[in-house]
Amino acid sequence: MAGPIDLAFDPWDPEFLADPYPAYAGLRARGRVVRYEPTDQWLVPHHADVSALLRDRRLGRTYQHRFTHEEFGRTAPSPAHEPFHTLNDHGILDLEPPDHTRIRRLVSKAFTPRTVERLKPYVHGLANELVGKLVEAGGGDLLTDVAEPLPVAVIAEMLGIPEADRGPLRPWSAAICGMYELNPSEDTAARAVRASVEFSDYLRELIAERRKEPGEDLISGLIAAHDEGDRLTEQEMISTAVLLLNAGHEATVNATVNGWYALFRNPGQLAALRADHSLVPSAIEELMRYDTPLQLFERWVLDDIEIDGTTIPRGAEIAMLFGSANHDPAVFRDPGRLDLTREDNPHISFSAGIHYCIGAPLARIELAASMTALLERAPTLTPAADPRRKPNFVIRGLEGLPVELR
Ligand code: HEM
Repeated sequence: MAGPIDLAFDPWDPEFLADPYPAYAGLRARGRVVRYEPTDQWLVPHHADVSALLRDRRLGRTYQHRFTHEEFGRTAPSPAHEPFHTLNDHGILDLEPPDHTRIRRLVSKAFTPRTVERLKPYVHGLANELVGKLVEAGGGDLLTDVAEPLPVAVIAEMLGIPEADRGPLRPWSAAICGMYELNPSEDTAARAVRASVEFSDYLRELIAERRKEPGEDLISGLIAAHDEGDRLTEQEMISTAVLLLNAGHEATVNATVNGWYALFRNPGQLAALRADHSLVPSAIEELMRYDTPLQLFERWVLDDIEIDGTTIPRGAEIAMLFGSANHDPAVFRDPGRLDLTREDNPHISFSAGIHYCIGAPLARIELAASMTALLERAPTLTPAADPRRKPNFVIRGLEGLPVELR
């Protein structure tokens, strides 16, 4: 184990948030596992360890399938937060086998590679339309004009959320996602609880409508999906729909703006991409590595594990630093350099193991669609002002990305 934490690692410090990657190098140099008191967690900064731990069944996203809060040495969440936890705890991201296996299998049935592939023309058409409007206006905000509306519309369309109902999706998602930051405040929790109640009520009604009148959408698919007599309960359906709607756009929005901001800061790489659009697929992977949209994921230690001679006991919490793993020189040559032609790129941005991102193929289609539309239709796109970074650490993004066409 390493000594006291490197002060450069401070997830609440705007300077750290502006560029966390040098502090990660400091952490990796300190050791394979570093105790971090402010969050009562064990930080894991190396790629090999993150990759192995994501597949390690002695860890879990929850412990409630095996232990009570008391048995695990933790306190039950406040009853005032119950609506958030009920919603969160029944979605596959926060379940472990056997529930995770059962529900993920059912969700996968409604969320097949063919369904996703069939969406391609719609996603490209929408990307062209949004970029077309941006070009007509001579510029705007890449976040609100393209990065946000594209994945929100796609996932809402997949789930069959009527267009008139889509307004609150972003604010509900943002309020709920506040709980995934480190040490969320009471205000953040109150906002998440309110959003959880409203979002759940909305979906309960929509599910009732689809039960009466099924459509081609994924919610109807979830209602119909059954596997060896197994069905989703109503709460599992609500939680899965919320998870798909939130996970289905949050990271894609940030990957888009983080990616373009990185391109603007690396004009040589942007010029190479503009000269050769066949680089789009490798550019997307490299941008997801270079400025990782989701920086940290947590796991509970269900059975004692040992990392580099340090025993991490049952009941402890591990924080895997994806941004650090993606900049580990043991795996990536010259990791601080943006190289859109990088071939060997085993970045960890979509996770690994049983929780591997179910939406990765869809995210890649969306990112390719907006990037291609912007390269083809807005070849002179430049930043119009310095963007402001969101004050979040786990979900890394920008408040906006003002752009203009020169
Ligand atoms: C750039 C975009 C995206 C990134 C970086 C991303 C990243 C991730 C990561 C890291 C996880 C696993 C977290 C963990 O291991 O604890 C995950 C899970 C998940 N993602 Fe994504 N995601 C993206 C887009 C999407 C999209 C478009 C969908 C749409 C359906 C989606 C749906 C999900 C779901 C349902 C899970 C839970 C899977 C499970 O627990 O079995 N994601 N994502």
